[in-house]
Amino acid sequence: MTDQAPAAATESPDIPGKPTSASRTTLSHIMTHNDTNLLGTVHGGVIMKLVDDAAGAVAGRHSGGPAVTASMDEMAFLEPVRVGDLVHVKAQVNWTGRTSMEVGVRVLAERWNESAPATQVGSAYLVFAAVDADGKPRRVPQVMPETERDRRRYQEAQIRRAHRLARRRAIVELREKRAAEGFED
Ligand SMILES: CC(C)(COP(=O)(O)OP(=O)(O)OC[C@H]1O[C@@H](n2cnc3c(N)ncnc32)[C@H](O)[C@@H]1OP(=O)(O)O)[C@@H](O)C(=O)NCCC(=O)NCCS
Repeated sequence: MTDQAPAAATESPDIPGKPTSASRTTLSHIMTHNDTNLLGTVHGGVIMKLVDDAAGAVAGRHSGGPAVTASMDEMAFLEPVRVGDLVHVKAQVNWTGRTSMEVGVRVLAERWNESAPATQVGSAYLVFAAVDADGKPRRVPQVMPETERDRRRYQEAQIRRAHRLARRRAIVELREKRAAEGFED
């Protein structure tokens, strides 16, 4: 299948694009007792921190400078993670806009007491904005998907982007309407 999406996706024609593989990153970490919740399994927040760290590294690599987390959505926890597990957090840029990037993250766990292949235990999508020294958004290189899987992820990220924008617009409109009608929060 041809990939039409990236050509129309960015407003940064004078910045050379970058292939997905240029910034793809895996962060690996062994879980310890310090990472547990009251049930003795790994706290979700520990995994979210690793996800944000890996995604941030990818966003920084892709954009060639600082990038901040603008949003994190669809963080899914599929299986519990346990002490001793070797967790791999795999992240890549799925989509780029003008100054923002969607980073997709998969979390895998190698069980310390099993010889089975790593299991997927979580996934998330984060939006990062590239920023300049004053913290203002700056333009990012267009991501260039290389494989069919990259292209599918790009197209799915476009759907999520459209939903985020529509949801934000709908909420702003509702708040304006309520304010105009004299409701106070
Ligand atoms: C993210 C941030 C830089 C956006 O700044 P802004 O002045 O609102 O700028 P813009 O509205 O132009 O948004 C910049 C880009 O981010 C995207 N964006 C902003 N907020 C977003 C959100 N909540 N979800 C998804 N994308 C978002 C915009 O769509 C835009 O993308 P585009 O240029 O590719 O179209 C700013 O809100 C910020 O600094 N937030 C704090 C980030 C931070 O500190 N993160 C760490 C958490 S402690």
